[in-house]
Amino acid sequence: MRTSYKLSLALMLSCAAGNFHTIVQAQSKQVPQLRANNVKQIIAAMTLEEKSKLVVGMGFKMPGMPPPSKDKMNEPIDIGGFKLPPSDPDAYNIPEKVPGAAGRTHGIPRLGIPSMTVSDGPAGLRIEPIRNGDKSKTYYATAFPVATLLASSWDTELVNRVGIAFGNEVREYGVDILLAPGLNIHRNPLGGRNFEYYSEDPLIAGSMTAAIVNGVESNGVGTSIKHYAANNQETNRNSINTIVSERAMRELYLRGFEIAVKKAQPWTVMSSYNKINGTFTSQRHDLLTTILKKEWGFKGFVMTDWFGGADPVAQMKAGNDLIMPGSPSQSAAIVTAVKNGTLDINQLNANVERILNIIIKSPSFTKYKYSDKPDLAGHAKVAREAAAQGMVLLKNDDHALPLKGAKRIAVFGNTSYDIIAGGTGSGDVNKAYTISLMQGLANAGYKLQEKLSKSYTTYLAEMKLKQPKPKNFFDHPAPIPEMDVTGIVADEANGADAALITIGRNAGEGADRKLENDFYLSDAEKAMIKTIASAFHAKGKKVTVVLNIGGVIEVASWRDEVDGILLAWQPGLEAGNAIADVLSGKVNPSGKLATTFPVDYKDVPSANNFPGTPADKPEQVVYEEGIYVGYRYYDAAKVKPAYEFGYGLSYTNFKFSGLKLSSANFTNSITATVTVKNTGNVAGKEVVELYLAAPKKDLDKPEDELKAFGKTRLLAPGQSQTLSFVIKAADLASFYTDRQAWIADEGKYEVKVGSSSRMIEEKASFKLAKDITVEKVNKALMPEQTIKELKL
Ligand code: BGC
Repeated sequence: MRTSYKLSLALMLSCAAGNFHTIVQAQSKQVPQLRANNVKQIIAAMTLEEKSKLVVGMGFKMPGMPPPSKDKMNEPIDIGGFKLPPSDPDAYNIPEKVPGAAGRTHGIPRLGIPSMTVSDGPAGLRIEPIRNGDKSKTYYATAFPVATLLASSWDTELVNRVGIAFGNEVREYGVDILLAPGLNIHRNPLGGRNFEYYSEDPLIAGSMTAAIVNGVESNGVGTSIKHYAANNQETNRNSINTIVSERAMRELYLRGFEIAVKKAQPWTVMSSYNKINGTFTSQRHDLLTTILKKEWGFKGFVMTDWFGGADPVAQMKAGNDLIMPGSPSQSAAIVTAVKNGTLDINQLNANVERILNIIIKSPSFTKYKYSDKPDLAGHAKVAREAAAQGMVLLKNDDHALPLKGAKRIAVFGNTSYDIIAGGTGSGDVNKAYTISLMQGLANAGYKLQEKLSKSYTTYLAEMKLKQPKPKNFFDHPAPIPEMDVTGIVADEANGADAALITIGRNAGEGADRKLENDFYLSDAEKAMIKTIASAFHAKGKKVTVVLNIGGVIEVASWRDEVDGILLAWQPGLEAGNAIADVLSGKVNPSGKLATTFPVDYKDVPSANNFPGTPADKPEQVVYEEGIYVGYRYYDAAKVKPAYEFGYGLSYTNFKFSGLKLSSANFTNSITATVTVKNTGNVAGKEVVELYLAAPKKDLDKPEDELKAFGKTRLLAPGQSQTLSFVIKAADLASFYTDRQAWIADEGKYEVKVGSSSRMIEEKASFKLAKDITVEKVNKALMPEQTIKELKL
């Protein structure tokens, strides 16, 4: 402002004097400023050192840890036995705008370039809630439901509203870019960060991502969709070599990112830690430049994941524009490379330009006066609504739910009292409170068994004292074993009208989940369910299990023992209220699985290739299942899951009818319409899932694939709604590796519409007369070895 004012004053005076020579001189003496000058002029004025600073972040400051002493600045930072590379001293020396944020870019005040602040994460803004010990003013954020729950709503309008509320917190707490959402594919149920991701299906993942990104960014702040790409496990996450076919990459692991980029143009994309076919993703030109920027038209910038990759110069060349969190040695390497000719200055300029183009949109640039007072109460309501909409009713025998007649409830299971709002690591949110299931039920007017509640609270308090303290950020104490209820269960079955049992699971970045006592229930959990079920059933009373989990668990071996199962996922800070909303029938469940629950782990298509080899410290993981992930596998291989993709019950019934296609022959597109009627007794919403079975000519293909979905509004009993879906040529196509193209094969296509991938209610078909080459793409991401890929 000041400079441009000076400049115009000089210009005015000079003009008045009619001295044009002076004008030119006045201009050349001014240092260009980002506000007054355009990005290209700024780049022309930047020194090489300044450019190398802009493309490398300001370093990492571990929240809550004191700065290293001056002589230790260049040493790795020890966070409880876990070593992080040395930080940039700037991270400590330049005062933070937002304590607890994950990183910052360097500001270059000389040119009017501000520093941007970036912060996690996928379920809520992760910042320090209490600063300098002053509890009179707090900075808590809303813990929204985890991504897997949001996806289970199959409701992009709802997810967009979550994004709008979420983005308001990003803006009002002074952050420029949210490091979320995450949209990696649920390749294996043991993936430690699956809760941060949406689905096993790329259409769901991409559509949810676009919805939340558009919502967050409508606040004038950015997002970073992550982790690009094929980052489907946590074991040895920093260097695991993912060996995967081009077809699986195109059809599954890139597809969601492609949808999100084309529908939402996020400000940034975060490259992942892993290698793909031998090269770190952040160092792959074909992934970051050819595909992301050229083929899909991504306009923002790419940043690394924290400490990701190995070679800063290769990262610049690949089009990984920003290295995070950044260290001076990376900037120095970039300067040297330009000087010795191994890095083209034009490439570095292009990286700088992408970053500057985002900076000029950021609140730090516009000097937005953030309030530090987002509408937390309003956002909690959004979180509660979204949580209830994404819960999935898996089982409901003989109307176990809603708990209408049952007024007095015996509530079992540790996590009923200590509910898990969300996962651990950078996906965790510092929230002001979490409503437990007990509180939620009490708020909803249920009477609880006081003696039982007391036993649990005492037990949990005692056990917590015995728990070891976490050694570092990635270390989490083993969960508290379930309390033995044998001695008290008979009393409870006498006194209460129904039983609820919560089974809880938590996980997060840095480690994948285990089979024993995690995917499978522990012996104590199984015994607890058996004991409670037999005591309550003996009295003719119902037992419902609430699953407070972030990822898929085994259910087939114990589900017959109980009457109801509500999959509540990890529902955010309003957890207990939202669960009570569904249990009580205030909200009729309408969530559907966006990820399959297999009968057993051995049924999982990647079971033999997860987390890789050698088994003791996996260095590589081969995606031998190819495109057969999730329902694409279970359907084609005729393996019956416990609960299939797209499955979820309601307290009412729906009937689908009158599926019509706009034409029997495909030319440019086809519109499918179908009517859904609520044929039951209570109001409810239904998800309509459209699957397409394509003809198999030269290529094996999944039985069918989800190509469109929609959700009805709340339909009163007897009410109906007609939904329509457009099927485009791209929806017909599969990726032909040998032809480097998406091709729709001629032949008969079957449209299947239903309420789950296996509950198809209506079918119709159309013909495609001639093959269509929908898109020719570049040769990219070739595996360096032959993959023994599954063909079905
Ligand atoms: C995680 C990212 C996160 C980053 C910054 C990394 O460890 O993988 O998802 O955004 O840290 O906290």
